[in-house]
Amino acid sequence: MKTIGISKEGIKKAFQSEGVTNTARHDDKHLVALCKIYQVQQLYPGKRLHELLHPALAYINRRLDVLEANTLSNPAHEGGITLSLYSMISETFTELGQEAYFGKTLAEIEPKMVSLFMDFDAVAWQVLYQYPTLLCRRMVRSKARMQAALEGYFSRPVKDRSDAAWMILELESDMNRRDVSLPDIALFFFQLYWSINGNMKKAPFWMLSFILFRPGLVDAIRKEVQPAFSADGFSMDYLSNSCPLLHSVWDETLRVTAFAASVRFLTEDVRIGGKILRRGNRLMIPQRQLHFNPHAFGEDAASFNHKRFLEQSKLKKHSSFRPFGGGTTLCPGRRLTEKTSLAFVAMILQKFDLELEPHTQSFPIATEGNPSIGLVDVEQGSDLKVNLRIRTTVV
Ligand code: HEM
Repeated sequence: MKTIGISKEGIKKAFQSEGVTNTARHDDKHLVALCKIYQVQQLYPGKRLHELLHPALAYINRRLDVLEANTLSNPAHEGGITLSLYSMISETFTELGQEAYFGKTLAEIEPKMVSLFMDFDAVAWQVLYQYPTLLCRRMVRSKARMQAALEGYFSRPVKDRSDAAWMILELESDMNRRDVSLPDIALFFFQLYWSINGNMKKAPFWMLSFILFRPGLVDAIRKEVQPAFSADGFSMDYLSNSCPLLHSVWDETLRVTAFAASVRFLTEDVRIGGKILRRGNRLMIPQRQLHFNPHAFGEDAASFNHKRFLEQSKLKKHSSFRPFGGGTTLCPGRRLTEKTSLAFVAMILQKFDLELEPHTQSFPIATEGNPSIGLVDVEQGSDLKVNLRIRTTVV
């Protein structure tokens, strides 16, 4: 919180539980704990997750319709349009996350919010490394504008932004009861915006990249997902329950791109593999080491195999497979991320023929040298140029 710029007073209030007169359920919790509780409640299957997922899927559909219209309005549309895949996906998923959580008002206040975030996020590791301001002006500028936009957003009456997700309004009223200042409220929600939008875009990009570099896989997935599209619309249930190949590609993508580490504090001595880990120390469990372990995933663990989870479905429950962490801190955003990624991949393959342009491009480079929250980042300059043509053939 200090790194992001929240004031001393704001940090004190974030860990303050007293002074609440109005909440019966959580009056013993501080703001940081409440934020986590509300995220879990918002993302748990049921009405609240549906309130995020429903507009998110509608948004993806709309966005691809716009792309289709742009392709058609291009005088040379039979040659399709060529675009940068990661840029397009980042924009789509950031706007989707912004709208699902903050409603439409934030974009009215700052129409460039999405591109400001993309600018910020490309160098966000500078925040984690606590770079001196002088060396990261671009990041600081984008962050300042986003903070100003969020200040504008939270200055508006709640009735003007009632399309925000339940958890945003709930957390805001908890902050107001603790008398948190407007700049600190804005920074607190900036952190939340970052945690939501920093991750969602990477999964569909890596997934689609792996698919595009295996041409036979495109047709196999199209065939599998075809029944999810009918005159009645798109069926997320079909995609979730009847597409084992798509799910295998998803799990394998997470396996090879997961880059976080779970951190635990040892409250007692533990013996693991002939070693004693002493109480009082911190333990880091890096996913990458677990996911690339040949004892768990086989001799080809270092390479991408889209059939791995299809052929060995038990791997999904393997103790070494932990893309979303585990235990009490298991990522609550995993369902939203999975469903939006699968829907995006199915919808874009259904609507367009995608081809690398030029064909000679190399597979995008993972930024293994920088810290990242969730999945590994995409090295700047290694985005894929892809030609999209409206599909005329059916598999
Ligand atoms: C591919 C996308 C994502 C990946 C790989 C991912 C991964 C993770 C990991 C590894 C953790 C830490 C688990 C641990 O400490 O053991 C975590 C925690 C968390 N994630 Fe995600 N995440 C993703 C997307 C999201 C999204 C979209 C949201 C919100 C909408 C979200 C919300 C959270 C929250 C609130 C926590 C903290 C849970 C806690 O401490 O109780 N995640 N995530």
